[in-house]
This record gives sequence, C-alpha cells and structure tokens, in this order.
Amino acid sequence: MPYFLVILAYFLGSVSTAVISCKMLGKVDPRTVGSKNPGATNVLRYAGKKAAFFTLLGDLLKGLVPVAIGHALDLSWGWLILVGIAAFIGHVYPIYYGFKGGKGVATALGVYLALNPIVGIVVILTWLISALVFNISSLSALIATLLAPLYFFWVTSSLDLFLGLVLITAIIYWRHRTNIVEIIDGTEDKISEKK
Ligand code: G3P
Repeated sequence: MPYFLVILAYFLGSVSTAVISCKMLGKVDPRTVGSKNPGATNVLRYAGKKAAFFTLLGDLLKGLVPVAIGHALDLSWGWLILVGIAAFIGHVYPIYYGFKGGKGVATALGVYLALNPIVGIVVILTWLISALVFNISSLSALIATLLAPLYFFWVTSSLDLFLGLVLITAIIYWRHRTNIVEIIDGTEDKISEKK
C-alpha cells in the first residue's frame, strides 16, 4: 500500500495547476513568459491574482493530500516523507510535460503542512515574514525551505524525515539557481512589481 501511495503521489504531483488554471481562465501559458516557471509567482505576474490563487492552492494540495492520506494510514515518518518527495518530484519533473515542471515551493509547503500543520504554518510564516522584509518570492522560498528541515528535526527528532526534507530543500535550491544569481546581482523581480 505505501508503494502505491508513493506512485499515486508522483502522478498527482505531475499535474500542473498553473498550466490548467491559466488555460481555464483564458490566460497566457506561464511557461512562455517571464521566468517561464509554471508556479504561482510567475502566474501572478502575467495572469493575475485569481489564476495565481488557484495555482497556489492546487500546487499546495498536490503535496498535502497524499501525505495526509499517509498520515491516516499511520505510515512512519520515513514513508510519509517518501510520499511527499514523490509528490514534489512530480511537480518539478512531471511525467505529463516532458519532465519540465516548476520549482516546487508550493508543493513542498503542502507536504510540510500535512507532515505537521503547526510546523507547516511556521514555515509559511517564515516565507511571509521574509516576503514582507525583502519583497522577493524566490528569496523568501530559499529562506523558508532552508529552515524547514531544522524546524521538523527539532519537533520530531526523526533523521529519516530530516534527510528527506534536506533532499527537497537541495532540489529547490537547484531549481532556483538562476534566481540565486539574480538575487546576488540585485536584478531579481520584486513581488509587488507589476509587469
Ligand atoms: O515559487 C517559485 C518562486 O520561488 C520563484 O518563481 O517565477 O520568480 O522564478 P520565479
């Protein structure tokens, strides 16, 4: 059963809510504009708040639902993080779109929320406070996802969970490599800057 859930999570994670929301609302395909990232930030830039809201919600649920099912089945931390990684990998390397997906932040937030709602909220608050201070979505994600494994280890003391979360963070950093260069150069887009 846990294997089945891991596979299911990957296929669910592969569904791009950014592409679907924009298509349904008659907006531009986010993969063709701006950062070309099919994620809520780029959707907000070019398709507006409504499409961005549905993208954020959908991407979050893709991580949250499979891990919540795993919790209901009383799976161990090791299995739960495997399910979460599968959903996350689905978003980042989706089978339906030639393995070209997003940067994984919202799906990771959904995984965090399902693993432990309180810790998940603390990670989201970390993102929000960083966004208020720096006004840069990618930098906020880099700060929040760097701290997430530490928060979880502090609360659960599970090494399996910690290592799985570090893997998610490492992939998020790899997917943000262009953003990191632009943050250092001072050319990274601000959240509130209208395109
Ligand atoms: O969640 C993605 C965000 O961290 C960066 O997106 O479009 O600015 O590269 P973008």
